[in-house]
Amino acid sequence: MNAFDDYQGSFDLAPGYLDWAAFGPLSPSVRARSAADVDLLADGRASSIARVGESVAQSQRLIAELIGADVADVTLQPSSTHALMHALFGLSGTVIAGVGEFPSVSLTLHRAATASRGDLVPRWLAPADGRITTDAVADALDEDVTALVVSHVDFRTGYRVDLAGLRALIGPHRLLIVDAVQSFGVVDDDYAAADVVVGHAYKWMRAGRGTAFARFAPRARERIVPLLSGRTGTPGNRLPVDELPAAAASAQAFTVSTPDTFAPGRLAAGLRDVRDAGVATIESRLADNVDRVLEIVDRAGIAVVSSRDRARRAGIVSLAPEDPAGLSAALADAGVAVTTRGAAIRIAPHAGTDADTLQLLDEALTAFGNETFISA
Ligand SMILES: Cc1ncc(COP(=O)(O)O)c(C=O)c1O
Repeated sequence: MNAFDDYQGSFDLAPGYLDWAAFGPLSPSVRARSAADVDLLADGRASSIARVGESVAQSQRLIAELIGADVADVTLQPSSTHALMHALFGLSGTVIAGVGEFPSVSLTLHRAATASRGDLVPRWLAPADGRITTDAVADALDEDVTALVVSHVDFRTGYRVDLAGLRALIGPHRLLIVDAVQSFGVVDDDYAAADVVVGHAYKWMRAGRGTAFARFAPRARERIVPLLSGRTGTPGNRLPVDELPAAAASAQAFTVSTPDTFAPGRLAAGLRDVRDAGVATIESRLADNVDRVLEIVDRAGIAVVSSRDRARRAGIVSLAPEDPAGLSAALADAGVAVTTRGAAIRIAPHAGTDADTLQLLDEALTAFGNETFISA
């Protein structure tokens, strides 16, 4: 068995789970690490407490390795939304973003603009197909633009932006802020092209909530004011009492307080699994499974609205069925877990999705098609 086989073998849940873009059921190593940390924190020994605390630095090192960053530029965050708040509240100028972005981007940008009293102005993109292409950004670009904030992979359209193309387009004097929630750990891309990268590990990394991170590269730190900096964001590793120091010059400035006790251990376990299996291999197996989902859906005659091109997608297949409520109920009855939002159904396999799960999907869609045909 090689490392990828081990990784694939660790997908030990019952067949039917196709909702990895919403939540990743916890992996065996994450569960084991979590249980071990609970025990370690019960004995009151300083060495046990220190051992659990070591996972903060371990996680930072692994994230830096996976995104090609300097470890000092990586901080742990309670959520990706918290991380985006640090990035967007300290910005000024005109910032481009898609109006259809996940609210962690769009709503946070709107709130930051409101709080800035005119210093920060969003420039909303609203492409008909929801895709933030390099051309769409080019059309909105002018000298007022200071930054672009974008999801690497869109939660609805599944569209994977061209990071290198966007970087080249906006140039070095504007910031590229990337929400990597739907790509981190399953897409092998040049994350270092971005000045700020945020992500978390409760979906594709199977590590549970509280496991987010942010990378603030030096260029980002020069231009983003750490407005939301908290007690852990001051220089040195000490508690600032009886003084009111300025925020640190390091990425640590973009933190508020110490992380949740158990989250870094889970995060480190999830990161290690992915690093050992190899992101490129995970990406390629995931792409194969997305191909299989597309083939099943196409055969069932259901419209696909997400990106089909391997280079411009990751793990999301979005459907626009004629009867979304009926299809959603049929999938639930068949034990297939997906996300239904309005008229769209999102199917998200993982690299470890097994043949039984794809067969359940196939059978459910075929049965639903026959039913619709008979009742029509
Ligand atoms: C693209 C994207 N960004 C951000 C989030 C939310 O992240 P968090 O819960 O860590 O704030 C999600 C959750 O689905 C998402 O899909």
